[in-house]
Amino acid sequence: MTPEISDPKEQLEAVREAFEREFERFGSFRPEDANSAGPSLAEAEMNLRALAELRTRHTGRKSALAGLKKMIGRLAPEERAAFGQSVQQLESKILAGLDEAESRLKAYADTARIERERVDVSLPGRRPRRGHLHPITIMRQRIEDIFVAMGYTVEDGPEIETDFYNFDALNIPPTHPARSAQDTFYTSDGLALRSQTSTVQIHAMQRRRPPLRVIAPGKVFRRDTPDATHNPMFYQVEGLLVDRHVTMAHLKGTVSEFVRRMFGPTTRTRFRPSYFPFTEPSAEFDFSCFKCGGTGCALCKGSGWIELGGSGMVHPNVLRSVDIDTDEFSGFAFGLGIDRMCALMYNLDDIRLLFENDIRFLEQFN
Ligand code: FA5
Repeated sequence: MTPEISDPKEQLEAVREAFEREFERFGSFRPEDANSAGPSLAEAEMNLRALAELRTRHTGRKSALAGLKKMIGRLAPEERAAFGQSVQQLESKILAGLDEAESRLKAYADTARIERERVDVSLPGRRPRRGHLHPITIMRQRIEDIFVAMGYTVEDGPEIETDFYNFDALNIPPTHPARSAQDTFYTSDGLALRSQTSTVQIHAMQRRRPPLRVIAPGKVFRRDTPDATHNPMFYQVEGLLVDRHVTMAHLKGTVSEFVRRMFGPTTRTRFRPSYFPFTEPSAEFDFSCFKCGGTGCALCKGSGWIELGGSGMVHPNVLRSVDIDTDEFSGFAFGLGIDRMCALMYNLDDIRLLFENDIRFLEQFN
């Protein structure tokens, strides 16, 4: 049984209208708009896919247009030719429209792609920001240069240490407050973050047998509450010389020479008796204020002197802990804090500024 056919011309018009209604939206892509102002490349690509889908639906084997073509054969012979022609015209129109829209969309997408990848060679280049050394590094390198010129070797040591390097070998008794958890950071397995670079004395003596002269700059850690002159992490430089017939005079001469090279040839040094478990005798040393020359000013708090660090003759127990014959060898050691020295040199009123990573502050040291 033939299904009832409504007026073929009406059907043809319905097919045309349905196509035109859906096809309309593809008219808006003009390649000349494919710059930043027009629809995006992604939108154009999405429309290309939608157009392909439209083509299948309106011209494919199961399309309404295919239905019209089948209908031709079923019409009365006198109507067949005219209707056949109309269907063919509609088909050509649809196909031409689709082809035209497709090539326009493709051209649009191509232009948009080129626009997106375009490099304007006349634009000024983007200069990478130029970095510079951190003030602590500048300071450390100056200290290293002075000691290397005096024949010292720069030595390195671990920041996490066993009790042996941190305390025992340095003649620090189990009862010493430095060993307490209030003063030192311990890891869960009993290791500790070194609280002074003096630990490198031990590594250095194990690594190179005497005679030796080394300096060891590096990070140290203490459970100090941060304030203007304290940080829980700061930098020290250790110095160690072990040789035959070394005396306190060598220590004084070395530190005095360092201070003159660092702060100027007229700088004087002063030693005050002190105590460190790993040196005997021990001394703290100050240098005459580089700002007022020793007459007293705000920088040296009116005293004319600025504290620099600790020092002394290496304790025989320390030498023995690394099997050095104390009848043959003796030595001196000293240690100073780089951060506070940096603050002095650059007139900083707070050492915490050094680790705030504020680029506006750090840029001043360029
Ligand atoms: C020592 O650490 C000894 N190891 C120095 C030494 C070496 C003595 C060799 C004898 C022989 P002291 O604890 O004083 O000493 O610290 C040395 C320097 O570290 C101080 O002068 C100070 O400049 C700096 N310093 C100490 N604690 C802090 C801190 N919390 N923040 C910043 N700097 C600090």
